Amino acid sequence: MSTMPLKDDATVVQRIFDHIDHRTTDVSDETWREPVANYTSPERFAAERELVLRRYPTPFCPSAALPEVGSYVARDAAGTPILAVRGADGRVRAFRNACRHRGTQLAAGTGCERAFVCRYHGWTYALDGALRHVPHEYGFPGLDKSTRGLVPVAAVAEVGGMVFVTQDAPSPPNTDLDRLPPMISSQHRLLNSAALEVPVNWKIFAEGFLEGYHIRSTHTETFYPRQFDNLNVIETFGRNRRIAFPYRAVNKLRSVTPAEWSVDGKLTYVYHLFPNVMIATFPANIFMTVLEPVAVDRTVFITYVLTTRSADDVEAQTTIKRGGDFVQAGAVEDREIVCAIQRGVASGANEFFEFGRFEGLLTHFHRELRAALDFGKAHPRTQPDGTAVR
Ligand code: FES
Ligand SMILES: [Fe+2]
Repeated sequence: MSTMPLKDDATVVQRIFDHIDHRTTDVSDETWREPVANYTSPERFAAERELVLRRYPTPFCPSAALPEVGSYVARDAAGTPILAVRGADGRVRAFRNACRHRGTQLAAGTGCERAFVCRYHGWTYALDGALRHVPHEYGFPGLDKSTRGLVPVAAVAEVGGMVFVTQDAPSPPNTDLDRLPPMISSQHRLLNSAALEVPVNWKIFAEGFLEGYHIRSTHTETFYPRQFDNLNVIETFGRNRRIAFPYRAVNKLRSVTPAEWSVDGKLTYVYHLFPNVMIATFPANIFMTVLEPVAVDRTVFITYVLTTRSADDVEAQTTIKRGGDFVQAGAVEDREIVCAIQRGVASGANEFFEFGRFEGLLTHFHRELRAALDFGKAHPRTQPDGTAVR
């Protein structure tokens, strides 16, 4: 598999035509055996959250979820309550979501505030995290408010229409944020978002997005009639990956000159942004899905649906509705399967899961995950100033 920049759409379409004509698909050179213990071990799960998910710049939400000054999203990420908020200067900051008096969580869900006022005793924080007001401050002799602002995460970056949160340092080198392909544009607005807890390990969930070998068997009545079985173009970029799922309608492009090929409605790209975020493209909208690991066998499936189409565009609304129903039907089938895998894990039947040559992106994911774990183990967590954590 290539680590070069992603192919352009015309190259992907040509490759799809070649696969259709030769009844082939992209295959990887290698196969992989992943020990089942890596999906069940509480120690491994803790290490994944601590050493990878908290150390890596992880997409937290789309920029469109923080449209104005004071817009915030508060949720747990890798087990840490995080509050991300757009400041008066337009910058997004992210903090550990706890009051500096006696620790009450400051915000939940989403909303827009001019300041965060703790509901317990009213300590008040500005959007940049500074502690601004302590009621009856004389009760805290010697309190230096400048040292009791909200505790920031190690780093925040707003890149490519997404907010990336890095909770702890040090991160692995070459985190590639500057070289991400365009996925979400500044024109995208948030249509809706939802969260659903699913009884499955987060990696089993992720794997379901990364291969088209299951299309006919799992999505017999939903995706298969519109797509192809086991016909994909797979690519890797840095620690990330992309898979193209063509629709049968892609054949219509054969009568169009390549210079005029548009993949809109002809294929779905699924981008897997390491470690736990999927971006899937559909006509008229984009799904950003965060697979938030809450326990070794439980994942919160957070979905943001984004569109560039105007709310007044009636035709677009119909396409969005139809597309949403289509994706939903397939997603239900995928959830049934991943839950069945999770239940199967308890059988003890398998020592390992085998990823074949059609499942090369799973191999790439697990290799990157292993490397990130090794980096984390070799580089103990540090304070933002570089000193060791006590
Ligand atoms: S815990 Fe927040 S003001 Fe007391
Ligand atoms: Fe699927």
